[in-house]
Amino acid sequence: MRKVLVATEKPFAKSAVEGISGVFSEAGYKVDFLENYKDPDDLIKAAADAEAIIVRSDIINKEVIAAADKLKIVVRAGAGYDNIDLVSATDRNILVMNTPGQNSNAVAELAIGMMIYMARNQFNGTSGNELLGKRLGVYACGNVGRNVARIALGLYMEVYGFDPFLERSAMEYAGMKCVSSSEELFGICQYISLNIPVNDDTIKSIDFKLLERMPGNPTLVNTARKEIIDEDSLLKMFAERPDFKYISDIAPDCMEEITEKYPGRYFFTPKKMGAQTSEANINAGIAAARQIVGFFENDDRTYQVNT
Ligand code: 3PG
Repeated sequence: MRKVLVATEKPFAKSAVEGISGVFSEAGYKVDFLENYKDPDDLIKAAADAEAIIVRSDIINKEVIAAADKLKIVVRAGAGYDNIDLVSATDRNILVMNTPGQNSNAVAELAIGMMIYMARNQFNGTSGNELLGKRLGVYACGNVGRNVARIALGLYMEVYGFDPFLERSAMEYAGMKCVSSSEELFGICQYISLNIPVNDDTIKSIDFKLLERMPGNPTLVNTARKEIIDEDSLLKMFAERPDFKYISDIAPDCMEEITEKYPGRYFFTPKKMGAQTSEANINAGIAAARQIVGFFENDDRTYQVNT
């Protein structure tokens, strides 16, 4: 009997766990759930006899891979796979997949929700602002970016998009006005939603040179990864632009300094929760389970991210 491990330090909703169990029981596979673990050694131990692993942001590093002798496939139930050591996986001939698009509406709703919360002064009773008519820049127009645009258009925001890897027509089809550089996007938009992945090209790429281009009353919205922000630049922006606000699903390393010096100008979720809805958990978890069964039964490698 094939053995699958679902390792989620941040557990899926109960309904998603039931759905995942259903897919594997129908396929005749055994599934174990390792939830809420705190010690990475627990993951190493649990992975020892697994042929397949489903994770969220859980770290699959070379120690986990080395300990998992039977491992053939890892599926990241979500979009970003920067938590998986692709080199070590590929060396061991282990397939890595993600489940693109399955949690993107949840992330987009959080981005917009945080924008409203901040525009209304964190619901503190004072007079805030509306989003209607404001310019939003969507930086990277993949699944999350296009959902952010869709919701923002419903609020009658003016939505601009920049994505170096996407056809102009795809952005226009999604209702965005297409600009040709990140500099242009930041120069036009009072709100910027960051949807770029973290990689060698994007680490610390959101720097002061970009941020200072933003017009009056700028708000930066980060539901991507903290590593894409140059934190010295972030602090400089807070210091030099008293009108600047930062809202993020991932607290920066310099959080303490921001919370101390700039009350009312930031909001950080206590734990990354963009994808933390039952719907997203069901979509991404069940997609991951089906992808594993599809791989073992039909050699289906759709959504493979390593080569
Ligand atoms: C993703 O990359 O899919 C999102 O960041 C969600 O991550 P999570 O599954 O850890 O909530």
